Amino acid sequence: MNILILGSGGREHTFAWKLAQSKKLSKLFVAPGNAGTDNIATNVPIGVNDFQEIKKLVLKENIQLVVVGPEDPLVNGIHDFFLADAEIKNIAVIGPEKLAATLEGSKEFAKEFMMRHQIPTAQYKSFTSETVEEGFKFLEQLNPPYVLKADGLAAGKGVVILNDLDDAKNELKSMLVDKKFGSASATVVIEEFLDGIELSVFVLTDGDSYKVLPTAKDYKRIGEGDTGLNTGGMGAISPVPFASKAFMDKIEQRIVKPTVEGLKMDNMPYKGFIFIGLIKVGDDPKVIEYNVRMGDPETEVVLPRIQNDLVDLLQAVADQKLAEIELQLDERTATTVMTVSGGYPGSYEKGKEITGIESIKDSLVFHAGTTLKEGKVVTNGGRVMAITSFGSDFKTALSKSYENVEKISFEGMNYRKDLGFDL
Ligand code: AMP
Ligand code: GLY
Repeated sequence: MNILILGSGGREHTFAWKLAQSKKLSKLFVAPGNAGTDNIATNVPIGVNDFQEIKKLVLKENIQLVVVGPEDPLVNGIHDFFLADAEIKNIAVIGPEKLAATLEGSKEFAKEFMMRHQIPTAQYKSFTSETVEEGFKFLEQLNPPYVLKADGLAAGKGVVILNDLDDAKNELKSMLVDKKFGSASATVVIEEFLDGIELSVFVLTDGDSYKVLPTAKDYKRIGEGDTGLNTGGMGAISPVPFASKAFMDKIEQRIVKPTVEGLKMDNMPYKGFIFIGLIKVGDDPKVIEYNVRMGDPETEVVLPRIQNDLVDLLQAVADQKLAEIELQLDERTATTVMTVSGGYPGSYEKGKEITGIESIKDSLVFHAGTTLKEGKVVTNGGRVMAITSFGSDFKTALSKSYENVEKISFEGMNYRKDLGFDL
């Protein structure tokens, strides 16, 4: 089978690495890909939202399955685009249709879905520029910290948490009236602050049955001790040590099942990955958000722990036969450490030569923001490369990741040295 992966990050390199292990794979394409995917697949310089060019590629290369990495094309309706076109409607697309992708595309939509299906989440109210004054009153009734969320996609920056009431009111005004995040903050969700430790659960569904994939915890802040600005993710650990069997049973019964059943009930076709961001409040899981894709860098620790042939799993999703498959997992812990460009998540330079990759033997190297320039691997983004290792526990795995990170070098390279500090 010929397969196309859409995207260019560490997540997509990990998908490519895993798919490349399947005997069922003939040709693998990645659009646009990075220097890592270039080693194991054919990179094609097409953007993930260029649906017409993607269609041409699919027809030209006889691609039978498309794995959509990031949320953007899903929220823009790539799955619906395929279904609506007679020439490509039978090509399997892994990723939900547009309606279900709104679970990530609109926080308000996701909140309403959770309310409708009694899925535990923070209490909330949403506001628009017409109801700013009511928003102020609502904030006055809450206890700090105040959680304000731009409704739409805001490149991971749309959530603001503030301790001071006046700051929260100013932020609400700036989002709604001054359009701080453009149309993404035309509606703002204000919600109850949940105090606890975060984890993510990944689910693969064919719209009928589902598999709960390994849990993971990522480290979003740039600074040690979870300080400083938010990033796309500085590293991840799987499984999450505090996700006991009893806690996972609660997650499955209270959250995963009602989510998959809710999608069915609401006629929201979903074939793909669901990424559920959770907070453990006391002993109870509550949903912070849904993402309609895999996480990055969570994929870099979740996929390596799945022992099944990934082509089999994805084919079963496409054929709605996931129930027939038994998930096989590596019980060991996987950790990944993300190396980033100096200055990230603020401004940073690109094009720095990366050396030392070939000296890493006992960890997996997943490229994120890299490209080839005159035969050399150079930096091409904020998050540059993730180093994944296995161990009997997260400390053992992490020490191997760190040992190997030290072998990599590029000007300005930065990474967090304290992953797992909170576990
Ligand atoms: P999101 O973009 O929805 O993932 O939110 C970004 C981060 O904000 C999350 O990873 C949490 O750390 C935090 N967060 C979001 N909602 C809440 C909440 N209701 N209570 C506490 N923290 C939250
Ligand atoms: N690591 C968080 C995300 O992929 O959204």
